[in-house]
Order: sequence, then C-alpha cells, then structure tokens
Amino acid sequence: MTSRTSRDVLGRGLSVLGRAIREQPRIFTVAVAGSVLFGGLVIASAYIVGAVVGDVVVPAVERGSVGVAAIALAAGALFGMSVLRVVGIFGRRLGAGYMQFRLQAAYRRRVTRRYLDLPLSWHQRNATGTLLSNANSDVEAAWYPIAPLPFAVGTLVMLVGAVASLFVTDWALALVGLAVFPALFALNVAYSRWMAPRQARAQRLRAEVSGIAHESFDGALVVKTMGREAQETARFSARAGELRDALIAVGRLRGVFDPLLETLPSLGTLAVLVVGAFRLRQGAITVTELVSVAFLFTVLAFPVRAIGWVLAELPRSVAGWDRVRRVLDATGEMSYGDVALDPADPTPATLTFADVGFAYEPAEAHLPGVEVLGEVSFTVPAGKTVALVGPTGSGKSTITALAVRLVDPHTGAVRLDGADVRQLTAGSLAGAAALVAQVPFVFDDTVRANITLDRPDIADDDVWAALRLAEADGFVAALPDGLDTMVGERGTSLSGGQRQRLTLARALAGRPRLLVLDDATSAVDPRVEAAILAGLRAPTAGGPAASILVVAYRRATIALADEVIYLEHGRVLARGTHTELLATVAGYAGLVTAYEQAETDPQQERTPDEVKPLASGLEIEVDR
Ligand SMILES: Nc1ncnc2c1ncn2[C@@H]1O[C@H](COP(=O)(O)OP(=O)(O)OP(=O)(O)O)[C@@H](O)[C@H]1O
Ligand SMILES: [Mg+2]
Repeated sequence: MTSRTSRDVLGRGLSVLGRAIREQPRIFTVAVAGSVLFGGLVIASAYIVGAVVGDVVVPAVERGSVGVAAIALAAGALFGMSVLRVVGIFGRRLGAGYMQFRLQAAYRRRVTRRYLDLPLSWHQRNATGTLLSNANSDVEAAWYPIAPLPFAVGTLVMLVGAVASLFVTDWALALVGLAVFPALFALNVAYSRWMAPRQARAQRLRAEVSGIAHESFDGALVVKTMGREAQETARFSARAGELRDALIAVGRLRGVFDPLLETLPSLGTLAVLVVGAFRLRQGAITVTELVSVAFLFTVLAFPVRAIGWVLAELPRSVAGWDRVRRVLDATGEMSYGDVALDPADPTPATLTFADVGFAYEPAEAHLPGVEVLGEVSFTVPAGKTVALVGPTGSGKSTITALAVRLVDPHTGAVRLDGADVRQLTAGSLAGAAALVAQVPFVFDDTVRANITLDRPDIADDDVWAALRLAEADGFVAALPDGLDTMVGERGTSLSGGQRQRLTLARALAGRPRLLVLDDATSAVDPRVEAAILAGLRAPTAGGPAASILVVAYRRATIALADEVIYLEHGRVLARGTHTELLATVAGYAGLVTAYEQAETDPQQERTPDEVKPLASGLEIEVDR
C-alpha cells in the first residue's frame, strides 16, 4: 500500500464520518456536548487536584496540622465534578449509541431497498453471500467509528484547552505538551495506515466465508448426495483459515501499537516532572501548578486513545463503506414510462415481440457478451395460447424473462397491448402479466401467504379458485392445516410438482391478463399438466381466460396451443400449429418425439442413442 492510498484512507474515512454527522446532526451535537463537558471537567479536576495538593496538603504537611474545612471544600468540589462528569459520560454514550445504531438501521434499509430496485442482471453477477454481508457486516463496519467519534471530538477540544492552559501556566511545560500530543496523534495516524490493508482484507474474507457457507448450506442436497462433504469442508476451512490469518495480522499490529500508545503519555508525564522540577527550582512555577500539569498528562492519556480508536476503525469503515456504496451507487435499475394500463381491465392482453435481440452481460467485463436471442418476432394474440418449443439453451427462459420485463431487449421491442413495456408505469406490467418460473420459489410461510403475497384484494375464495385452476386444491385441502399449513424453507415439505402448482396458483390469483409459463408444470403428471392448460384456456365465469405464453415439451400440452414457435440457438426457426411443425420441421419432430419416448418409457436405461442429434446438429438430452 502506497502512502498516497493511505492518505486516501484517512481523507475518505473523514468524509464517511462527515456524512454520518450530516445525517444525524442533532444526536451528534448532544453526544459531543456530553464529551466536551467531560473534557472540560477533566482539565478542571487536574487544576483542583493541583490546588488541593499545593494549597492544602503541602501547607498542612509543613504546619503539621490539617485544615479540616479546606479538605472538606476540596472534597466537595471534586465530588461535584464527578457527578457532572457522569452526566457528560451519559450524554456522550447515549448519543453515540443512538447515532451508530440509527445509521446502521438506516443503511441496512437503504441497501436492501436497493437490492430490490436493481435489475436481475446485477443480481446474477453478485453472489448471495456478498449481498448478505453488504447488508450486515459491511454496514456495521462503515459505522464502527461512530461509537468513539464523539469522545474523540470532545478530546480534541479538550487537548486544545489543555495546551492553552499549559501556555497560561508555563511556556516550558507547554512545549512538552506540544511535543507529546502531536507525537501521539502521529502514532495513531501511522497505526491506522498500517491497519488499512489488513482490515480491508479481513472484511473481504468475512464476506467470502459467509458466501461459501451460504452456498454449501443452500446446496446441502447436492453436497450430501454427491458425497462432497469433505471437499466443501475443505473449501470452507481454507477460506476460514485465511480469515483467521488476516485477523491475527490485525491483532499482531494492535499488539505492537497498543502498548506504544499507552506508553507515550506516561513518558509525557515523566518529561513534565523533569522539566517542571527545573522550573520549580527557578521559581517560575508553583507546586500547585506542577502537580496540576503532571496530573493533566496522566488523565489525558486515556481520552487521547479515543482519537486512536476512531483512526484505527477508519480503514475498516472505509472498506465497509466502499462495499456499501457499490450497492447504493449501482445503476441499471429499470426506468419506467408513463403509459398506465388499466388495472381493472379484465380482457386478455396481446403480447408482441418485434425483432428482439438480447445478450447476457459477460461474467467479466473484458469478455464480449454472447448474443442469445436474435430477430425474435412473434405475437400472442389476446386470449390465445402460444407454445415455445426448443432444445435446452435455445433461449426460451430468456424470452419469458423479456416478456415480463425482468430484462430489457438490446434490440427491438417487447409490446403489451401495443405499448412498449419500457413505456409502462412501474407496477403496470406486474399487475397485468405473471411469470411462473422454471424453478419454483416458495417462501417459508403458510400456503395462503405464498399465494396472496400480501395482495390485499385476494380473498380465500380467490385463493381456492386459483388452487383449483392449478389442480392444487386437492393436495392443499389434504394438508393438516389447509391454507394455514407452513410449507418450510423453500417449500421443503412439498413435492416438486406441488411446489410448481403452488407457484402457478400464486400467479393465477392475481388474475393476470397475460400468463407466462416457463416449463412451469414439468414436475407435474402429464395428464394433470394438460388438464391445467385446458382449464386455463377455457373461458370461466370469472371472465375470459388470459393470453398464455407457455414453454412446453409434452405433445399433449403443445397440441393445445393455437400456435407453436420453434426456437433453435435463439432464433425462431419455424412457426405454425403442432401438426404442421411435426410434419415439416425435422428438428421439432425429433425433439417432441424423443421427449415423449423418454416419458412413456421411464424405466428404460438411458443409452447414448437417446441423445439424438437434431437436424441442426445440436445434441439435446432427452430426459430433462
Ligand atoms: N444469466 C446468464 N448469464 C449468461 N448467460 C446466460 C444466462 N442465462 C442463460 N444464459 C445463456 O443463454 C442461453 C439461453 O438460455 P435460456 O435459459 O434462455 O435457455 P432455455 O431455452 O430456457 O433452456 P432450458 O430448456 O434448459 O431451460 C444459454 O446459452 C445460456 O447459457
Ligand atoms: Mg429455461
């Protein structure tokens, strides 16, 4: 680390503190007032102790008798000051605590709010573990120095007061002060400079350790079934070991600097006694003054450390703040237009893809993005069902993500009822279109909460209606507590097909005008799948059915669609009815037939023959 960057750390750290003060000015003022009161009293108490020694104790020793009244007065004065000091400490501590924890809470909220605003592409680039540590340990680290900050500011005021009173007392003693206090300050600055890279490294490793832990708990099933426990443990302990070493490096530095910071003020006291003895002999100062100044150096040693605490925490604060700011400053959130869709409109919507092209952002900035969709055009007319069929990786999920605007196209446009989805107001599209994703996500909550998602207008009757359409009413009714049954984290107490039907019911409960199903019934029995789609297509008493874009594989399901779009390599290769495509497109026929064979004969061992080459030469796996 160069000295330029360490100066940066100091400057940037101070600007982080400045931000904290600007955000909580009143509490900060209370805390600093408490601290300054304390500091003033510390200086005053040094002079009172000096006065007691010089004016009461020394004469009493010389006279051989003790003036009781004088002693009582001095004791009373010292006691009164102690009480006031308690008030000062109370104000400072309370203020500092309020300020620190308020800032933490505020920034935790801002960070998590930001996560929700940022686009899917940002989330795909950032590991969950990192997001967790951004909202937790990084926010905490950013505001660590707030706890000692009011103390440190009060101490600075106190130091100025102390040096001034030294000058009033004696210039020679003042020079000792001018040598010792800046030296203490310099030592503290050096400390924080050395600490900076070590703290930053520890903070980064903390995030990585939590990331690895998160991933292996999340993937517990894979870890266990693949017998990867040992490797996962090794991966975790390697990084945990690095974190340990990083923290020990921090501790070692602290071990060297802490005693130095402790010793320097004591050396100051020693210097005061030596210089002061000379000045006393010269008659330049009195005993009272010497004792006061020596005592001042002793009592100042501790508060000066507060400045050191702040400086020592600055690197960690800057490291945490940088990581928090990376989230707060991240861009790419979706912008919205002002075309509002009528939320009460019950008619099915028309979805149009016009010449849509899309590329995922590369994992690393210097790599080129790979185009996954090109010149994709199709329409889902109002009330109709369009099936998307294509081999794995052909871009079906990407199309569904574009349809509900999880991502925006790079070229062309996606339109809903003729309006470019980018022109719609926030919330308009979510109210009109619902996506049931390829991988169902179920919250650790009741069945009801999973379906309503706190949408106030969805009553139990609507929930049951949605469950019926999703062919899920049977199993939900059989659950011990019906709609009130807790489903466990990610729905662990449900089967895969049950989870899928629950998420389908969730989408249906909002009465979407466009329903986008990304392989949403793959884990459901083929007959049930066809029944679900047939039910969705039938106009119901509650109003006309929605338009449906469905990614499907099964012949029975595809056959229900009004039109089939066949994709390969992110391009529309053919379109038409199922029967037309079956007769004319070899790749399509191969895919659909292979899938059917695999399904009707699940016992059959998979042989390399079953990985059938398509017309395009692309190989697909049949038992998806
Ligand atoms: N987040 C991502 N970042 C980079 N590339 C991606 C990302 N998601 C998908 N891809 C790539 O985009 C292409 C299309 O993926 P997509 O998920 O749309 O395929 P799919 O047709 O839904 O496949 P499947 O049938 O397996 O679900 C694939 O080549 C895939 O590797
Ligand atoms: Mg997919």
